[in-house]
Amino acid sequence: MKSTLLFLQLALGAASLASDLPVFSRYSRRQDVPTFDWDSIAPSTTLNWVTCYSEATQCTRLSVPLNYSDPGAGSAAIALLRIPSPLGLAGSPAYRGPVLINPGGPGGSGVEYVLSSIGSEIASVIGEEFDVIGFDPRGVANSTPRILSIFNNDVERAEFGLGYNDYDMEVSSLPTLPGRWARMQVFGSLAQGRDNGLLSHVTTDNVARDMMSIVKAHGREKLQYWGFSYGTVLGATFAALFPDNIERAILDGVLYFDGYYAADRINDIVDADKVLQTFFDGCAAAGPDLCAFHSPQPSAIKQRLDALYERVLRQPVPAYSPSLPQYGVLDYALLKSTVFAMLYAPYLAFPILAQGLKLLEDGDASLLYQLAMPRGGEVIAVVDCADGTPVSDSPATLAEYAKQASMKSSFGSQVAAVRLLCSGWKIHPNSFKGPITANTSYPLLIIGNTLDPITPLAAAKEAVKAFPGSVLLTQDSPGHASVTTPSECTYRHVRNYFLNGTLPIVGTICNVTTPLFPPRSANGNDSTSVAAEYVKRRMFIV
Ligand SMILES: *[C@@H]1O[C@H](CO)[C@@H](O)[C@H](O)[C@H]1NC(C)=O
Ligand SMILES: *[C@@H]1O[C@H](CO)[C@@H](O)[C@H](O)[C@H]1NC(C)=O
Ligand SMILES: *[C@@H]1O[C@H](CO)[C@@H](O)[C@H](O)[C@H]1NC(C)=O
Ligand SMILES: *[C@@H]1O[C@H](CO)[C@@H](O)[C@H](O)[C@H]1NC(C)=O
Ligand SMILES: *[C@@H]1O[C@H](CO)[C@@H](O)[C@H](O)[C@H]1NC(C)=O
Repeated sequence: MKSTLLFLQLALGAASLASDLPVFSRYSRRQDVPTFDWDSIAPSTTLNWVTCYSEATQCTRLSVPLNYSDPGAGSAAIALLRIPSPLGLAGSPAYRGPVLINPGGPGGSGVEYVLSSIGSEIASVIGEEFDVIGFDPRGVANSTPRILSIFNNDVERAEFGLGYNDYDMEVSSLPTLPGRWARMQVFGSLAQGRDNGLLSHVTTDNVARDMMSIVKAHGREKLQYWGFSYGTVLGATFAALFPDNIERAILDGVLYFDGYYAADRINDIVDADKVLQTFFDGCAAAGPDLCAFHSPQPSAIKQRLDALYERVLRQPVPAYSPSLPQYGVLDYALLKSTVFAMLYAPYLAFPILAQGLKLLEDGDASLLYQLAMPRGGEVIAVVDCADGTPVSDSPATLAEYAKQASMKSSFGSQVAAVRLLCSGWKIHPNSFKGPITANTSYPLLIIGNTLDPITPLAAAKEAVKAFPGSVLLTQDSPGHASVTTPSECTYRHVRNYFLNGTLPIVGTICNVTTPLFPPRSANGNDSTSVAAEYVKRRMFIV
């Protein structure tokens, strides 16, 4: 229990309210990371970097027009954080400028992402010639104004209960759909009524224009970029809007762009069950010492998981421990979405998932409950729904859609939920929604994993067709986007692309050498480090 506790303090530090308020930020800040007062920087149209958070990072706020067609209509301040290039700081001619990072979401904070240990890993992969820049998309986190102002405070937000329940589109829960649909109509009206003038401007095309502004503020004309998950939609949208302004762009963990802009994510889920199968296979092969949920046959492990689902469906399990900050009830939908989220980062998550499932079998839901980070909140909903074509589904059409999704995958409910979230949305600006295709000034590097639970390899192949000259690099691993599974081979290609402009030979497949259930090592023998690492790295839901 002690090790679990330490992990919780790391992972849930920002959310450890002594209550069951839902966790809205999927990237909880670690407690040992210092804070920074962004208000101490005045927004400006020039970049004035100041040291922030630590000696290793610098911040600035860039003022951009809310509406690029109407500069008088107010402005937003984009929060940027960079790990500066040592060569740039030294004034070396080898300095190559900024690489912008988007971690996904929508609604993911690039500032938090680059600030985390992932930022320094990205910096070491792309090399000292480049600055690594994380920015919070307009409306998000440290950028102002903020989307979060739809609710007056966390109590109201919690009371409204926009959270994982709205992602519960399991066939078993469809009888509750009409009531939840009605609540989403309220949410749409509430957002419209409380809109401070921001909500029609947070669409992805405007975030792409902000990236152009960031590049220009650096005195440059062309973008260098690495985007993950939803960040591939952002990068592709930039490429479609500004095809002549691409220096380098990596789209890593690619969605179906047309599906994204149609608020129809159903095809993104098609490989999720195959990723789960790697859990069964890997666990059976690893043996009982390395996989706590071990059975000799993969099919037996699958049966045990199915039995757990059934048990929890009939009887949700209370999760409470006096020493843990989070308590509540582990029900079927939460169990399902927790297992699903852990498919994003198999190499980090599978050992701890196995422990959680074993404990649950013994009647203890506390570990799985702590690992579950209810998704959601309004930021994802707002950007998704504003970007997507209007959803006018009735409860009956939604139920039919959820059934279709469940035929694509046992995790179909996870994507069907987007329809529900958007079913009451009323703010539909006339924003750019495609076509997402262009002849770019430099070829894009597209990265796809062989088995990705939420951005299938087939979508990456579509992206290659949309951008002539772009090249697909396949990473032979389960998991979401390449960074959840370090591969030296992938990193070498990324570095080579940024530095030399070299694209992989068509058909290149990078191997991953780490085993799924790794032998215990000096720094990884307890669940603490594994689970903490997992939570740090988990990607945003696209
Ligand atoms: C942005 O400004 C243009 C020009 O005034 C206007 O037509 C358009 O509706 C505005 N966009 C939004 C989302 O308000
Ligand atoms: C890209 O260039 C080719 C060859 O010139 C042209 O046929 C095609 O229409 C262009 N695609 C786009 C999206 O502009
Ligand atoms: C980039 O090109 C240089 C010069 O040809 C070469 O030495 C180097 O290995 C290349 N970089 C990478 C990361 O392959
Ligand atoms: C990648 O792994 C496959 C299967 O294990 C193996 O056949 C292949 O040789 C490996 N490729 C490299 C470059 O290591
Ligand atoms: C972790 O386990 C391995 C193999 O069981 C062992 O060799 C190593 O000493 C352990 N490390 C720690 C820090 O306990």
